[in-house]
Amino acid sequence: MKKIGTIGLVLVLIVLYSCEYNVENETPLVDNLCENVVSYSVTIRPLIDGKCMPCHNGDGSEPFAPDLTTYPLVESIAGLIKDVTQSRRMPKVGSLSDSEIAAIKCWVDNGALNN
Ligand code: HEC
Repeated sequence: MKKIGTIGLVLVLIVLYSCEYNVENETPLVDNLCENVVSYSVTIRPLIDGKCMPCHNGDGSEPFAPDLTTYPLVESIAGLIKDVTQSRRMPKVGSLSDSEIAAIKCWVDNGALNN
């Protein structure tokens, strides 16, 4: 019993030590990173479908409007999408709310993941 107690104490100390170690070495959030995870499928995809179609549907009716119908196409110009929404150049018709613009920025800054 005493032996188990000692081992237990050692284990607890190791766990506590590793916790403290991790906290002390935690990387501070980079300014650009958003703490909130923005999901492509839950937030970004419906936003594009709602606000960027039909101009960006790739059917050729707007030949200079990049096709935004699939994740790889969106991901490949994610930085540009962030820029044109930050500057409110897009959507060409209609508008985005501040929170929609912020969500796009967060999603792009966090790596434009297919999440
Ligand atoms: C009413 C039609 C229309 C809507 C809605 C629209 N766009 Fe566009 N978009 C265009 C056209 C036309 C172009 C190409 C001409 C230009 O760059 O102005 C374009 C160009 C772009 C480009 C390329 C810019 C460049 O410099 O090459 C991006 C990125 C873009 N749009 C993103 C979006 C996003 C994101 C949305 C939705 C939030 C959106 N657009 C909504 C018509 C539209």
